[in-house]
Amino acid sequence: MGGAYEDVYSAWKQDPEAFWARAAEGIEWFEPPQVTFDPDEGPYGRWFAGGRTNTCHNCVDRHIAAGRGGETAVIYDSPMTGQTARFTYDDVLVEVSAIAAVLRNHGVGRGDRVIIYMPMIPEAVFSMLACARLGAVHSVVFGGFAAHELATRINDSGAKVVIGASCGLEPGRIVPYKPLLDQAIDMARVKPDYCLVLQREQYHAPLRYEHGDVDLAQAIEVEKVKGLTIPPVSVEATDPLYILYTSGTTGEPKGVVRDNGGHMVALNWTMQNIYGMKPGEVFWAASDIGWVVGHSYIVYGPLLAGNATVIFEGKPVGTPDAGTFWRVVNDHDVKVLFTAPTAFRAIRRDDAEGEHIARYDLSGLRALFLAGERADPETLKWAERMLKIPVIDHWWQTETGWAIAANPAGLGLLPVKHGSPTKPMPGYALDVLDDAGHPVPRGTLGNIVAKLPLPPGCLVTFWNADERFRHSCLDEFPGYYKTADAGIIDEDGYVFVMARTDDIINCAGHRLSTGAMEEVCAMHPDVAECAVIGIADELKGQVPCGFLVLKKNVHRDHAQISREIVQLVRDEIGPVAAFKMVMIVDRLPKTRSGKILRGTMQKIADGMPWKMPATIDDPAILDEITAVLRVHGQIVSGEKVA
Ligand code: COA
Ligand code: AMP
Repeated sequence: MGGAYEDVYSAWKQDPEAFWARAAEGIEWFEPPQVTFDPDEGPYGRWFAGGRTNTCHNCVDRHIAAGRGGETAVIYDSPMTGQTARFTYDDVLVEVSAIAAVLRNHGVGRGDRVIIYMPMIPEAVFSMLACARLGAVHSVVFGGFAAHELATRINDSGAKVVIGASCGLEPGRIVPYKPLLDQAIDMARVKPDYCLVLQREQYHAPLRYEHGDVDLAQAIEVEKVKGLTIPPVSVEATDPLYILYTSGTTGEPKGVVRDNGGHMVALNWTMQNIYGMKPGEVFWAASDIGWVVGHSYIVYGPLLAGNATVIFEGKPVGTPDAGTFWRVVNDHDVKVLFTAPTAFRAIRRDDAEGEHIARYDLSGLRALFLAGERADPETLKWAERMLKIPVIDHWWQTETGWAIAANPAGLGLLPVKHGSPTKPMPGYALDVLDDAGHPVPRGTLGNIVAKLPLPPGCLVTFWNADERFRHSCLDEFPGYYKTADAGIIDEDGYVFVMARTDDIINCAGHRLSTGAMEEVCAMHPDVAECAVIGIADELKGQVPCGFLVLKKNVHRDHAQISREIVQLVRDEIGPVAAFKMVMIVDRLPKTRSGKILRGTMQKIADGMPWKMPATIDDPAILDEITAVLRVHGQIVSGEKVA
């Protein structure tokens, strides 16, 4: 098993440039790259410099030119509305051209930034492709973020236009997006020229025409009647395709920049080699276009490779039940499914015996891929037992855009070790280093780092912030990219990803910064200081928990203050923060130099064995924290060890 993997990985290692130059043949170039890799451009070099191409052309026009225009490209399935729709590649070209024309009429051209704030509807994907067609740079913002987060992204990107929908749909409620968009634009420093709004029938938003609001559906109809051809704009391979903001260690999100050329080459390679997909087959990433998984594997990867992709507007459970995923697989003949472990924990909780699974024909499904958080072996084994197909954990990040380590279905599966996302993919030479930057022996926990240069498809920098990118990702371990994940590489070369080395937590497959939540808690007038940590949760993996110390003169009801703080985080960051647990304490445990002992607090809360830190200022405070956690019913079976 896996012979091809060893061969392919060593071919890459022997000559990375030749490897990626071969992969680049899978993409259509308007002008071929002058060099495969230019080490002098950008913070660590740039791929395919001098090449000219267009991502939308490669996702759509190229397949039509090859005679595949009548094949399905996009399947929309919404248990929220009961609607389904199918779009062929020909249809997609019509839809994308119309939105591109609307954008062009509103002054959008190559290099302009466009914010997209939309739920999981086809227009969201068409808008992304329309931006790509014009050479404009999109930045999709996840619907679960609130106005302030949106404003931060409008400011940082300098967006010229926003494309939004009137609302999103969550189980049992309509989430009006447009009022959040209005608030964001009002609070933003940068004022976009236009806001193109798609009115959904579930909520018709009042439009502020005086602020440049445009009814998107009407504008699209006008363009469809005109039927103009909007040619794909030739862009540099190194031009940005998109910015995707992701949580950093502070409230200021990091704008991960992805280019056009390298991104296409890498994603196209992964569809066949990692996911084992053949053109014409249906690939479904049950994620959201607001996240990197959505960018890479709902939109660009499948369409580049000529697959059909599923846009699913629903949840793994409750829309209407834990059988939804299997219905979608059955109805659309999905060959490979990709989702987050948390979705499977939710399905397993509601359907432990797999009764829903038995109701559907899943014989076409070849593999299930999981990513976004550590795949706990129990859930993994359950999925293997129920589905009787390979269940593949793979590890990646917003920054890398595709898998750092995986079990490559297309190359022949390697033996599985539960708890490990298997081996590094070509492009990634991984090492594990101690905090001083020295390699640790195999099997020892340390910082997982990837040798520079990063492969095509990875971030090239942070938007307008090369220095911040160097500082946060490249400087600490010279010659390497710091993944900020701690883990192990074992004797057989298998990677085990154990925990983040920063304050990022993974809650329901969503990446969140506890630092950002602390900043919001500290805004409350009654709060003197605070610490937010992620604590283990059976369903979501981790959930945030805030420990607050109130100012001396505050005598208000603690329950009321807690409610206010929960609301504050929801208003400032958004419901996706899932911040619902607040504990008011007298003091926070600190080292003698004043550093809050978040790691120890987390171990106590998770019921893990913990050691009294040698540098602690006042050991009694940890007993106080333990007592508060007990009162709140958190599991505290863990014992202090000597
Ligand atoms: N727009 C508006 N609100 C949203 C939203 C969106 N797009 N997505 C989530 N929210 C809201 C939810 O309604 C919820 O609100 P509530 O506090 O009022 O209940 C809140 O944000 C927290 O959401 P979440 O943490 O996702 O919890 P949930 O109970 O709604 O769902 C799961 C739990 C496990 C079913 C769900 O998180 C899931 O499917 N996760 C998979 C995530 C994923 O695909 N990640 C991508 C990586 S592959
Ligand atoms: P995101 O940028 O949202 O994709 O989150 C990236 C982070 O999620 C990584 O740095 C890891 O901490 C975690 N992660 C993603 N996939 C895995 C995996 N397969 N195993 C363990 N952790 C993972």
